[in-house]
Amino acid sequence: MTQQQSPCRLIGPFSQIVTFKNASLKGPLNAADLGIIQGGAVVVGGEGRIIEVGEIQHLVSRYKDAAHEFIQGEKVLLPGFIDAHTHILFAGSRSRDYSMRLDGKTYLEIAQAGGGIMDTVRTTREADETVLSKDLQWRLHKMLQGGITTAEVKTGYGLGVSEELRLLEVLHANKDNAVIDIVPTCLAAHMKAPDFTGNNKDYLNEIREKLFPVMDTSSLAARVDIFVESSAFTIEEAKPYLNAAKDRGWDITVHADQFTPGGAELAVSLGAVSADHLEASTEKDIHIIAGSNTVATVLPGASLGLGISFAPARKLLDAGAAVAIASDWNPGSAPMGNLLAEAALLGVYEKLSMAETLAGLTFRAAAALKLSDRGRIVKNAIGDMQAYDTSDYRDILYNQGSLRPSIIWTKSKRYDQ
Ligand code: NIG
Ligand code: FE
Repeated sequence: MTQQQSPCRLIGPFSQIVTFKNASLKGPLNAADLGIIQGGAVVVGGEGRIIEVGEIQHLVSRYKDAAHEFIQGEKVLLPGFIDAHTHILFAGSRSRDYSMRLDGKTYLEIAQAGGGIMDTVRTTREADETVLSKDLQWRLHKMLQGGITTAEVKTGYGLGVSEELRLLEVLHANKDNAVIDIVPTCLAAHMKAPDFTGNNKDYLNEIREKLFPVMDTSSLAARVDIFVESSAFTIEEAKPYLNAAKDRGWDITVHADQFTPGGAELAVSLGAVSADHLEASTEKDIHIIAGSNTVATVLPGASLGLGISFAPARKLLDAGAAVAIASDWNPGSAPMGNLLAEAALLGVYEKLSMAETLAGLTFRAAAALKLSDRGRIVKNAIGDMQAYDTSDYRDILYNQGSLRPSIIWTKSKRYDQ
């Protein structure tokens, strides 16, 4: 992959530009919502913001002084993908868990036998900051190669005040030199720390009292997540914890309804920005989510990693929900780390239109992170974009993840691969 600096410029022509201009945040979408411009170009300013998008002849005559970044051959331009749910700050492998799962052990059985999340907590705690940073940067680079230009990254494999603080600091230290934008989220409430002697409630209180104030003063993260499940935290335990985060003005998000329902209803009742997973959501939950502003973030990579059903993305869309699709990339339940392949597979099983799947990876995923400046190729958006070597956008999902972008632009740089 080569990389070059990009001055203020006119980029094109593209066979198609998928803009998503005017596509709605919630509910079903069809091909008309893609907002395709045929034979288009994009004018990007020095700061990496999109100045204008339109037909190339029109833009060439209007922006005579712009440097023309000529695009050779047929290419389809998309907004950069946004992966709104990842756990890529970890060390170690969980291939042993995977193998146990193939032998018939369940996710919860493996966790109860001392594997699962706690195994990664151990290996992550053992890894020094240099190793953690190197692994993180490698994963971010792999994401960039897959067209992802913004990634949410959770802590959650440190657990406890000092170990979670260490992970938040690693994220902070890696933010400025990361190849893509990072949105940090505190998941100290992934599980109770293995070395914490009190109960769940005491643990969450300690995080609130000792970690939250440091996060606030050091601006380490402004998002808080919790795993609501019988093996992690109950609804009653989660509620005051999430309210404490809200009181600080932070966004909240919930690992909800992965194995049993209840978490999504809680997320909606507290005005969470997103409820993530939803594999076990009931009809009632689907309608509660659809009637709210909480984005339903579905995680096909976790279904593929665990061999369980996909979240009911079709039903959520039909009920009127905003559905985002994220990788959940983590060493346990979602080791693949190939968002486009996962989304394409979800789409074929859940019968999502191509517009719905691509929306779930772009502007709807941006909404799950409360980012309004990306996810569409429109005036004033950040110039995070990706181009595929085809003249027809349908080839992208049709290839189920094997067609990768040949050019990716982040707001400051262009990468060719
Ligand atoms: O989103 N569900 C909880 N947390 C992760 C799994 C993490 C792990 O297995 O290490 C998830 O799937
Ligand atoms: Fe997760």
